[in-house]
Amino acid sequence: MNKIVIGNLKMNLQSIEERERYLKEFSKELIGKKFQNTEIVLCLPFVHLEGFKKWKNKKVIRGALNVFWEDKGSFTGEISPLMLKNFGCQYVVVGHSERRKYAREEDSDVNLKIIAALRNGIKPILCVGENAGQKARGLNIILEQLKNCLSEVSGGKIENIIICYEPVWAISSNNPDHLPTTNEIMSAGLIIKKFLVGKYGVKISEKVKIIYGGSVSVATVKQACVESGMDGALIGRESLTPREFLKIGEIINQ
Ligand code: PGA
Repeated sequence: MNKIVIGNLKMNLQSIEERERYLKEFSKELIGKKFQNTEIVLCLPFVHLEGFKKWKNKKVIRGALNVFWEDKGSFTGEISPLMLKNFGCQYVVVGHSERRKYAREEDSDVNLKIIAALRNGIKPILCVGENAGQKARGLNIILEQLKNCLSEVSGGKIENIIICYEPVWAISSNNPDHLPTTNEIMSAGLIIKKFLVGKYGVKISEKVKIIYGGSVSVATVKQACVESGMDGALIGRESLTPREFLKIGEIINQ
């Protein structure tokens, strides 16, 4: 499959009942829908991973929203990549701007997390992007983040990483001015591609999916993800409504 649509459920679904309602609705909305070209991934909070595994819906791939860089041991409160693997996760989000902001995660932490996830056969979804204050230096920020976060990732592993361009100022916004233009997203995509080609060569880089995240909805997906040539989307707010999320998936799948 050459496209991917990922739901970032963030810190939502507050109870077992709410999760079950969500998954039930998701199953209902999936009926009759086919995604021949697109992987549908949902990344859920840790506490829901067991229930998510029991859901056993073959059309949806499971993912998590964070991971620690050791496999086991005395790391109170952390969740290891081995645990994620054993709970059926194939993907994990790393480097999200909300973790960089609220948990003070640095690129060096993200690098360790990526290596640990890959070591356990889990595909990292690496988020990069500038915040409002860095907008003028946007493309340089992306390059810096890629260089640091992928510093120890070899060519043999890079095709298992999804890179998501997610300008921080465009996340969960209702303001149309807060959506980058198609050209801006395309430029970011090209910078990412150029970095990958420089580090890993053309052949390997072609296999890496580059996606967009930040206020993707049915109304914005064409401009943000399709016309800009992205390989998919990372979706926050709209992933809370299965119908809208899957409509976006259908548009990307076309
Ligand atoms: P959003 O979130 O779709 O609500 O903008 C995207 C994200 O933070 O991954």
